[in-house]
Amino acid sequence: MSIDPGFHDVPRMETLQACRIDIPRPCCLVIFGASGDLTRQKLIPAVYRLFRQKFLPPGFFILGVGRTEMDSERFRELLHGEIPPDCNGDCWYEFAALLHYRTVSYGAPESFRSNIAGVLPPLEQSAGTGGNRIFYLATPPGVYEDIISSLRLAGLAGGSDSSVKIVVEKPFGSDLESARRLNAIILEVFRENQVYRIDHYLAKETVQNILMFRFANSLFEPLWNRRYIDHVQITAAESIGIERRAGYFEQAGVLRDMFQNHMFQLLALTAMEPPSLFTANRVRDEKAKVLQSVRPVPLDRLDEHVVTGQYGRGTVNGMEVKGYREEEGTAPGSSTPTYAALKLWIDNWRWNGVPFYLRSGKRLKSRRTEIAITFRPVPHMMFSRDMSGRIEPNALILRVQPGEGITMEIQAKNPGSRMCLMPVNLDFTYPRDVALSDYERVLLDCMEGDQMLFVREDGVDLSWALLTPVIEALEKFPSARALPDYEAGSEGPAAAAALPARDGRRWRPL
Ligand code: NDP
Ligand code: BG6
Repeated sequence: MSIDPGFHDVPRMETLQACRIDIPRPCCLVIFGASGDLTRQKLIPAVYRLFRQKFLPPGFFILGVGRTEMDSERFRELLHGEIPPDCNGDCWYEFAALLHYRTVSYGAPESFRSNIAGVLPPLEQSAGTGGNRIFYLATPPGVYEDIISSLRLAGLAGGSDSSVKIVVEKPFGSDLESARRLNAIILEVFRENQVYRIDHYLAKETVQNILMFRFANSLFEPLWNRRYIDHVQITAAESIGIERRAGYFEQAGVLRDMFQNHMFQLLALTAMEPPSLFTANRVRDEKAKVLQSVRPVPLDRLDEHVVTGQYGRGTVNGMEVKGYREEEGTAPGSSTPTYAALKLWIDNWRWNGVPFYLRSGKRLKSRRTEIAITFRPVPHMMFSRDMSGRIEPNALILRVQPGEGITMEIQAKNPGSRMCLMPVNLDFTYPRDVALSDYERVLLDCMEGDQMLFVREDGVDLSWALLTPVIEALEKFPSARALPDYEAGSEGPAAAAALPARDGRRWRPL
């Protein structure tokens, strides 16, 4: 049984408002690949919401660029049609005046000269953006090198000038070597303080809260170590499949798609030491130290540390869905993993002997991203004589989504004459209307020049260094299990249970 004793701590709205938003400096946003899905589905809706909430700087405009031939009017129409219902189109026409479009060819610097370098100055002058420019790479990664080179040759990269920034979308490379090459290409033209590598998980409200929660409360940090914590489970379960992204996902698989970035970032934030200052570089230094301390997965005992799987047909939320191999664009005999579970150890004083179990998969029973810290059982259970059944140890659940918030699972006496314990949840849920969406947060922080929520070069390098040998070994010696090995709408492959079970533990139910 579980009850919620009504411990809802809803923060005072004015406190949240007061500490939440700094209106950034005027700037322009130049989006490459502006005819694409990311721009329509994520970027423009996010900027539009910021505009409606009056969080954009007074001087602001967007220049969309791409190979597609269209004029600014057509660009505005295209985007208007995509504004989701929750975005409410009440001030769309006012917003649309800030949108412009020009056609360029990514590998042709002369088209950048005429259609970007030649177009920006008059727009900047009339908007008063003072030369602050953000270049947002919203194309497939294969085009990044051409764009960066054309920016340089067209004189748009701006040397070491931090008023010019470049935003790089994921995936950031497909292995250690390609990530290093991409970093080298970017850093030949831009400095690290101009580079914003996106991991949209870092911009989720609860992910940002991990550090506040850990380091602004004296209650938890003394317990946050091997002495009191039994193990940590990090879950990013999705009920959706691969949508229309087979071309990308077939190459990537879940380890590249979710672990190299989102899962390892969650791990780093959960396990890091307190930085001396809450600044981008101090926080990123501490995250890097965690990744440096993760013990490389032993490739000769891979199956004790990694389980992968692929979904077959099944029922998700009452709907019958296809198996992965039946999705449009996947190969009939594809062995691309859509699920992975990983056991990792962190070799440092704080975490020695505490396993971190990570799992992520598509087409699972429910959509749930959470970090579950399970504490050790009490040293002596004096109630065990009077009670039957297992008494669950305390757990602290950081709910990333849905229902962003924090739950503390504790034991309490069940009211009544019998001696009986019951689990009770102390629950904090974020008020819905105050959170910025991940892309709103990312865009605002980039405009403000705050790199805290963006991944630094060494963060990318370290996570690929851990994962690349594992992916290569899995690709070289695929599991003997027949695929698909889990039904859509299930908890994942049965084999995944063995990972914690080998240590006498089990996954939390999805
Ligand atoms: P799209 O496939 O929609 O491509 C965006 C635009 O890039 C296209 O409209 C096209 O514009 C141009 N483009 C596409 N393919 C090529 C090519 N082979 N050569 C040159 N130009 C090309 O991608 P998305 O918008 O979905 O994603 C953009 C980036 O964002 C990717 O790196 C993706 O991984 C990342 N991302 C996307 C998410 C999403 O929800 N869509 C979520 C997270 C990350 P034009 O022809 O006009 O030049
Ligand atoms: C993206 C992955 O980075 O994150 C997708 O490419 C995944 O495959 C998505 O579905 C999950 O993000 P969110 O915010 O919906 O949890």
